[in-house]
Amino acid sequence: MPAIEEIATFCKRKGFVYPSSEIYGGLSGFWDFGPLGAELKGNLKREFWKTFVHQRDDIVGIDGSIVSHPGIWKASGHVDSFVDVLVDCKKCGSRYRADHLLEDTLKMHTEGMTPEKMGETLRARNIRCQKCKSELGEPRRFNLMFTTNVGPIQDSSSLSYLRPETAQLIFANFKNVFETTRVKLPFGIAQMGKAFRNEISPRDFLFRMREFEQMEIEYFIHPQDKGCPWVDSVAGTELLVYSEGMQKSGEKEKKMSIRHALDGVIIRNSWHAYWLASMFNWFVSLGANPEKFRIRQHLREELSHYSSDTWDLEYNFPFGWKELAGVADRGDFDLRQHEKFSKQDLSVFDETSKSKVVPHVVCEPSLGVERAFLVFLFDSYVFDEKRENIVLRLHPKLSPVKAGVFPLVNKDGLPEKAREIYSELKQDYNIFYDQGGSIGRRYARQDEIGTPICITVDYDTLSDGSVTVRDRDTTEQKRVKISELPSLLSRALKGERIF
Ligand code: GAP
Repeated sequence: MPAIEEIATFCKRKGFVYPSSEIYGGLSGFWDFGPLGAELKGNLKREFWKTFVHQRDDIVGIDGSIVSHPGIWKASGHVDSFVDVLVDCKKCGSRYRADHLLEDTLKMHTEGMTPEKMGETLRARNIRCQKCKSELGEPRRFNLMFTTNVGPIQDSSSLSYLRPETAQLIFANFKNVFETTRVKLPFGIAQMGKAFRNEISPRDFLFRMREFEQMEIEYFIHPQDKGCPWVDSVAGTELLVYSEGMQKSGEKEKKMSIRHALDGVIIRNSWHAYWLASMFNWFVSLGANPEKFRIRQHLREELSHYSSDTWDLEYNFPFGWKELAGVADRGDFDLRQHEKFSKQDLSVFDETSKSKVVPHVVCEPSLGVERAFLVFLFDSYVFDEKRENIVLRLHPKLSPVKAGVFPLVNKDGLPEKAREIYSELKQDYNIFYDQGGSIGRRYARQDEIGTPICITVDYDTLSDGSVTVRDRDTTEQKRVKISELPSLLSRALKGERIF
């Protein structure tokens, strides 16, 4: 697997991702998506929405505001509890997340540790500033929310926050959605969009950023719900499972089916099992390597203030197993808190039980867009020894450019014919026209950015209306009639074999 630095260099070189504000020296934790990155990110978000909103009857989507009433963040607990522990160097002022410093230097778990305990451990083990080796100060809590002021008066009366998660806008709009759509319990509300966290030490390229995007679903059930009706559809899904018990007894994760995990009460809740498997299957359906995923249960000490049970979908990055998506059981915490702080009744009438209830959020699949972006890059990025260049074997649904169109030579009417084909296909897809350099060089350039097929116009095209189509992964080439290109492209983009 390439190192994260190699992926970051590749992304810059090909126009996927640039350091934000680079001409001013950059801004730590912020990244800009270039032309290819914007396409790839857009495609993966569209696929998420298609799978989890459009193709289902039980989930609807919203798009909430980034700045909202500060009461939302007081009710959610973010104003009081959304903190990391910060420690700074007494001499050079370098800042560290105390838990990361302990984990990196002593390889220890820090879940549930207070700032005082972290300080004691850092002193006892003589952990010093990683830059200048001087003494560290006292660790302290640091709230991760970015603040802003709403309106022209800049004081505490106008204070608000940039949302640190998209989820709260779903809770704040829960009753609106229930009353303006025809959803019935159980149902979900999805949202994709920006989230902001003033991370103490952003790192690992897109893995830990200060501005990022989330794709979240809050799934609401009746408080006396009997379990997920669709769990059988994922029962055969096999993946690595790492429960709290396994972690505490020092065992390693085990490969098992969802059925086995439920029968053995390793996963207690069928809704959890269903959503974890659904997220995993979504990644695999778009070409991710199933062997690099595991689901890990949070240790009790690690649970967020709102959760009674959380499982993460993790991916084995070059820097270790890390969270890709969290699936938390939030119960009725959020709706009850918003009832309390807003003084509004958020209960709804449930047709089945003929009663008013405050639903429970049994699951909150919450996925970072940029972390998913990294997974698809890692799992498609290969150096092809024979071709002597990078081939990005992206699923065609994710590929930024869907086809390259080239004239074999730049004369005798071939460029004009190639441009005609290009203009036609471009009505429906993002297509690239290229007449620069040798044909081999043009193929290599498209392979490197993950374009699934290339179409070459030659002299025969002018007489028989056929072109050469080349497949990115096999390099196989076939003659195809121009009239067949739209249907061939549409099959290729579904991931079907075209030859
Ligand atoms: N609503 C629940 C929630 O926000 P979270 O585990 O804090 O839970 C969900 O975040 C997902 O958002 C994570 O699994 C991760 O993919 C992504 N994420 C969180 N912080 C991030 C950061 N600083 N940079 C990039 N992605 C992040």
